[in-house]
Amino acid sequence: MNKITVDVKRAVDAQELEKSSYLVEAAHKELTGRIGAGNAYLGWLDLPVNYDKDEFAHLKVAADKIRGNSEVLVVIGIGGSYLGARAAIEALAGNFYNLNAGKKGMPQIIFAGNSISSTYLAELIEYLKDKDFSLNVISKSGTTTEPAIAFRILKELMEEKYSADEVKSRIFITTDKKKGALKGMADAEGIETFVVPDDIGGRYSLLTAVGLLPIMTAGIDADSMMKGAQDAREAFKKSGADNDCYLYAAARNILYSKGKTTEIMVNYEPSLHYLTEWFKQLFGESEGKDGKGIFPAGVDFSTDLHSMGQYIQQGRRMLFETVLNIGKPQKDIEIREAEGNVDGLNFLTGTTVDSVNKKAFLGTLAAHTDGGVPNIIINIPEMNPYYFGYLIYFFEKACGISGYMLGVNPFDQPGVEDYKKNMFALLGKPGADSEYKKSLEEKLSDLM
Ligand code: PA5
Repeated sequence: MNKITVDVKRAVDAQELEKSSYLVEAAHKELTGRIGAGNAYLGWLDLPVNYDKDEFAHLKVAADKIRGNSEVLVVIGIGGSYLGARAAIEALAGNFYNLNAGKKGMPQIIFAGNSISSTYLAELIEYLKDKDFSLNVISKSGTTTEPAIAFRILKELMEEKYSADEVKSRIFITTDKKKGALKGMADAEGIETFVVPDDIGGRYSLLTAVGLLPIMTAGIDADSMMKGAQDAREAFKKSGADNDCYLYAAARNILYSKGKTTEIMVNYEPSLHYLTEWFKQLFGESEGKDGKGIFPAGVDFSTDLHSMGQYIQQGRRMLFETVLNIGKPQKDIEIREAEGNVDGLNFLTGTTVDSVNKKAFLGTLAAHTDGGVPNIIINIPEMNPYYFGYLIYFFEKACGISGYMLGVNPFDQPGVEDYKKNMFALLGKPGADSEYKKSLEEKLSDLM
């Protein structure tokens, strides 16, 4: 079996890698010895082998039930309770999955609770009115405002449509094992629940029930995905020159220390857009703290070569790119000779659309490295459930190692509380400090 490999020769040199190897080794000891900051949240490290097999079987049953009785599954969640499932479904179910789906046996997967847009929710209600649907609400804390509002409103719609018993059988709650508002509601109303393990934070939870129920409902082979993650766990277990996961973590930290403070994740497949969104959350929330951290960005090529490509080629030189290079496309199309050659493309006769895409990648690689943008390449043999699971583990472990190399706790997110504190004060949530609300309103009157 080919593996996922990393090529850093257009980004850092051997000497730089050698110099940073002691930092990699120290990060490896912190992470695998479970002695670093945030070590209560390392459940994802052994998850590919330790996962709850009974729950996995129950998830398959629940997914089959949803597929049997629903035209739409609405997945309600935000951040780590949203992006992983979306990344997997977009990457693996097919670009037009939702357009082809929408029937029993193949439900559409629609996401909600990842914004507070009243327009989005109102339009979703309109759309769901005459459809059979199920809800999978996902929130580790069970108290996050965005999904809580969406769930309240969509549950109301469900209650108007179905009997109390049917409502119960159409809701699936993924939350903490013991605590939180959602767990309380599930227990009180007899709703089926799945668990977000205590020792796994939201952004590291893709391979738990958080990602798996929507993924299985979309008909994606979750066994193969777990196998990929298992093999990645094995491949990246030991520290050493052949550990490509650590090589990636080392290269990005070397680049950061040389002023390359923005990492642009590059893909050449539209279906990988949400994988990039997942990556942005994983690294942004894990490393952006204590005044430090690489800013994770993303582009979809060749689309964005016609927009952001200009900046990347000639703008400020604080960038490096990490390219997801997929070896074999999921599908390919041969380019045939056209009579008259009106479009001038007959020189491509006999090649394939993917081979043109590969030349776009090579041409861009040469242009951007010439333009002073270091490039890291992640070689992925093909995009299927196996390599998707492999890649997810690769990034999670790289993020843990990279965060420790940077000297931050990669497993907390204290900064995301600040906007919530302000929003709750402004909304007058019971328990919010009224003095704080007054001072905030004064500050806002200056700002607005
Ligand atoms: O990674 C994280 O911890 C966050 O992005 C959370 O997943 C996000 O805030 C949602 O939290 P919860 O699952 O508690 O609703």
